[in-house]
Amino acid sequence: MRIPFVAGNWKMHKTVAEAVKYVKELRGLVKDVDGVEVVVSPPFTALHAAAEAARNSNVGIAAQDLHWEREGAFTGEVSGAMIREAGAEYVVVGHSERRTLFGETDATVNRKVAAACAAGLTPLVCIGETLDQRERQETFDVLDRQIRQGLDGLTGERIAQLVVAYEPVWAIGTGRNATPAQAAETHGHIRKRLRQWFGPDAAELCHVIYGGSVKPDNIADLVSQPDVDGALVGGASLDVRGFLEIVTRSRRAV
Ligand code: PGA
Repeated sequence: MRIPFVAGNWKMHKTVAEAVKYVKELRGLVKDVDGVEVVVSPPFTALHAAAEAARNSNVGIAAQDLHWEREGAFTGEVSGAMIREAGAEYVVVGHSERRTLFGETDATVNRKVAAACAAGLTPLVCIGETLDQRERQETFDVLDRQIRQGLDGLTGERIAQLVVAYEPVWAIGTGRNATPAQAAETHGHIRKRLRQWFGPDAAELCHVIYGGSVKPDNIADLVSQPDVDGALVGGASLDVRGFLEIVTRSRRAV
């Protein structure tokens, strides 16, 4: 049984002090909230302090990116081992902002996913089509390519532990979320491919969460769809009370 998984992607927001304050507040607010996994994703600078603030709580910590090498001459980069040691258990890989603004490809996503697993981190792998691609009816082809290439070489056991975030690029930060019907159709397709390519057990256990303009007032309709196992929340996760609303409205037996 997959329990809903809700992650707040803070992007380039919050100082160390702001991150610690938020996490301390959140851990108190969710301490008796069960039936949902709660994760927040601070920027690198606040990762360690946020992880310390979340210690022995229901709140998990994710980094927003990693490099695929363990160490080396890669100025500006951070490795999976460093992230794990800082106290995070998760890492976002292949967010559309990384793909469009920083040149990430399915090949680099694949190396990062492997590196995350090797470092003992659970990857949250982001996939999703642009508006052009959706309008040209290419959505499923794009997702198939992102899944095939991004997850190439992973075993079914790895896939079972993974979180796949379906984030239509046209819904991110636009206020225009996918409709529950669109999410249901697309998540169903993703689950079908996971089953075909990695086996029924992997597909059954892998979380497929939705991201793109998730808000307190649309989350319940989205997670009521059979294959929508939670959410990756950007803007609406920055306010701890708003994020709490999304977390509590995500609970359901999936
Ligand atoms: P948004 O971002 O919720 O602000 O649309 C989602 C994301 O980028 O993960």
